[in-house]
Amino acid sequence: MPPDTLETRDTRSVIHGLTNLKRHLEIGPTVIESGHGVWVRDNHGREYIEAMSGLWCIALGYGDKRLAAVAARQMEQLAYYPLISHKSHPQAIELAEKLLAIAPVPMSRVWFANSGSEANDCAIRLAWYYWNAVGKPGKRKVMAHQQSYHGNTIATASLSGVAYNHQGFNLPLPGFLHVACPHYYRGGQAGESEAAYTQRLLAALEARIEAEGADTIAAFFTEPVIAAGGVIMPPAGYFDGLQKLLKKHDILLVCDEVVTGFARTGNMFGATTMNLLPDMLVCAKALSSAYIPISALLVNERIFTAMARQSDELGSFGLTMTYCGHPVASAVAREAIRIYEEEDFPARVRRLEAPFLGGLRGLATHPLVGEVRGLGLLAGVELVRDKNTREPFAKNQKIGAICAALCEKHGLMLRAIGDTLALCPPLVISETEIEELLARLRLALDETAATLSAG
Ligand SMILES: Cc1ncc(COP(=O)(O)O)c(C=O)c1O
Repeated sequence: MPPDTLETRDTRSVIHGLTNLKRHLEIGPTVIESGHGVWVRDNHGREYIEAMSGLWCIALGYGDKRLAAVAARQMEQLAYYPLISHKSHPQAIELAEKLLAIAPVPMSRVWFANSGSEANDCAIRLAWYYWNAVGKPGKRKVMAHQQSYHGNTIATASLSGVAYNHQGFNLPLPGFLHVACPHYYRGGQAGESEAAYTQRLLAALEARIEAEGADTIAAFFTEPVIAAGGVIMPPAGYFDGLQKLLKKHDILLVCDEVVTGFARTGNMFGATTMNLLPDMLVCAKALSSAYIPISALLVNERIFTAMARQSDELGSFGLTMTYCGHPVASAVAREAIRIYEEEDFPARVRRLEAPFLGGLRGLATHPLVGEVRGLGLLAGVELVRDKNTREPFAKNQKIGAICAALCEKHGLMLRAIGDTLALCPPLVISETEIEELLARLRLALDETAATLSAG
């Protein structure tokens, strides 16, 4: 790399997540300078379709003037005010009211934070606070699926079931339990029906709850679709069975809608699509269409009543962060929801699901493609060595990463999660852009296959 380019300066100054840091020093970054709609442009003028909405988040695409204008106006009117010590501002109030109005199940109050990680972290804290308040302080453990992703604070990295969150960091902390990821394609045994697989998983889950002791378990966290773990949808009946078990054992259900919130699966919330009835719901990312960091945690009446009583006993509710409910972020989020509603984005996603997922399913005949899975505008394409036996490629072959790099060469940004290609395009994508996305993906898949054949 020549000296003093942006690429070189980056390698000398910036640390990147989910990146091989040593290799980064050799190859440097792709530097993105601007964006419009679903397109981004790098510092050499090359254009890419951003088929991952950045990191599952820029739902309204780049260059939305309404969101930018609202942010500028709010900065001039009231750039900041905290929500502590009985203070408030109209933007937090309006956003909280709106979130309660559109919540997929009756919710009582909204707690604001700045990222999905923080909101999930707060949900763990509130689960503990709740059980202490109702006199069951033994209920401390928190459960989630293997391969789930809930964030990267110490607690939410512990809660997450992906190995990279733990390796080298002395995590998970004790008390964070992981149960089998509900993925029939990978977890189903030879000859086992989907229904039998589901029952096997639920029986194992109940056995685990009983072995741990239900009186030691505070909450179970799930994503409606396990996104960063490989865009995995639980089999039919799994969530119904899961919820019955949680009810029976009095374990709180927290629904992590950080990826699925705001129309991504064809309903405003993934909980509606997957028939989940959570006690707490976490959203972030598309909440502000990623124009500014903000997240929200909705809690039901049962939890809020206990919180109010406990805070009265203790003197105050001892949780805060400087930027909770930041007025600029709240105003931008409120405007984003206005746009989702005015332009009926859930209906738009339902309409686009057929060309998007249908087109991807058309790739299922490709020799490298094992499973195509998805909902709405969210999909995973799993690459396998043998389509018939589902045998995966060896990890060190890094086929997913090779294919993602070839996609980038053809002007398509997506993310390889192991050997699953994740797609989560901005919700503003048009049918023509979907066709273009599919054409570029097919090209990259063909080149990946050719690379493999060439050894
Ligand atoms: C389901 C889910 N929960 C939580 C998070 C963490 O959100 P953040 O990166 O905003 O902290 C993510 C991030 O990708 C996510 O996919």
